[in-house]
Amino acid sequence: MSTFWKEYPEITEELTDIKKIIKESIKSREKYLEESIYPMVDAGGKMLRPAFLLLSGKFGDYDSKKMHNLAAVIEMLHIATLIHDDIIDDSKLRRGVDTIQSKYGKEYAVYIGDFLFCQCITMLSKYDYTTENLREISKTISRICMSEISQYHLRYAKNMNIRKYIRIISGKTAALFAICFYAGAREANCNEAMQKLLGKIGYHIGMAFQIIDDLLDYRGDTRVLGKNALKDLKRGYYTLPLIYALKNDKEKEILKLLNRPSLVDNYVDEIIRLVKKYEGIERAEKVADRYTEKAIYYTEKLPDCNSKKILREVIPKLLKRSY
Ligand code: IPE
Ligand code: IPE
Ligand code: MG
Ligand code: MG
Repeated sequence: MSTFWKEYPEITEELTDIKKIIKESIKSREKYLEESIYPMVDAGGKMLRPAFLLLSGKFGDYDSKKMHNLAAVIEMLHIATLIHDDIIDDSKLRRGVDTIQSKYGKEYAVYIGDFLFCQCITMLSKYDYTTENLREISKTISRICMSEISQYHLRYAKNMNIRKYIRIISGKTAALFAICFYAGAREANCNEAMQKLLGKIGYHIGMAFQIIDDLLDYRGDTRVLGKNALKDLKRGYYTLPLIYALKNDKEKEILKLLNRPSLVDNYVDEIIRLVKKYEGIERAEKVADRYTEKAIYYTEKLPDCNSKKILREVIPKLLKRSY
């Protein structure tokens, strides 16, 4: 597991159990399933979403079996989206190991992602989760798909702007972080005000999280990231650093490069230099800062307990992460 939670042995212990549940649920007679997914489960991954679900659940009546199963579902959903995302982006590396699509082929990777989604439904029927949670989780998956479609549709779009970018990342990333908090709180019978408050924290963490992910892609350290960097631009995804740089670049240096017919591949280094020159990274960083401050502001409204303490420490840490 990645070292993200190492300072919190009690969380690490619970996450170890969640990994066990995930691995159990994948066991089948088809050898490729275990063989391909286990390395991804073992390789690490920050396990942020399951950990946040647990932390949120601890603000109410915490039933660890029920919570662990739900947290496993959320991590499996996330893994399934990553497997499919790597097919679409033709990525070779994920969590520091070969992607399923590069090792086994895109066809298998599609089936394996689908299999994980189906296992999630089976696992959701294991406990009497609230109807609202089932509905909201399902809606979240739809939102992720819809936002991925919008993002795909907007590849290489010269009219990409902040509003469109924010809409995409709230659907593809922040929605899942929000549901982790909501679902944990709701399953633990927290009152509605508390569910909403925790959901808002999740949403703002998710927004900052994706903006940082997009910045890290520009920083380009594949080894530290454990996944291929510098690929957003190559794939035509115009994220916040580029959007801001385009706004600042009055000479239209970047636009000229983006408009070249042989497309960006040959100009990636130059565009990245210009994105830095026109302060795209700094400005995007500031936006991530603001979402983080908001998340902390809402966290301060929570009742004092160990989960609150952990959230207070972890939220700023996410902003400073390098992977
Ligand atoms: C990757 O998420 C996908 C994004 C939303 C940017 P994580 O960075 O949480 O991936 P793992 O689980 O740690 O591998
Ligand atoms: C997140 O976006 C993808 C999903 C929500 C599945 P990215 O495309 O930025 O994720 P990475 O960078 O490949 O992890
Ligand atoms: Mg991707
Ligand atoms: Mg990314």
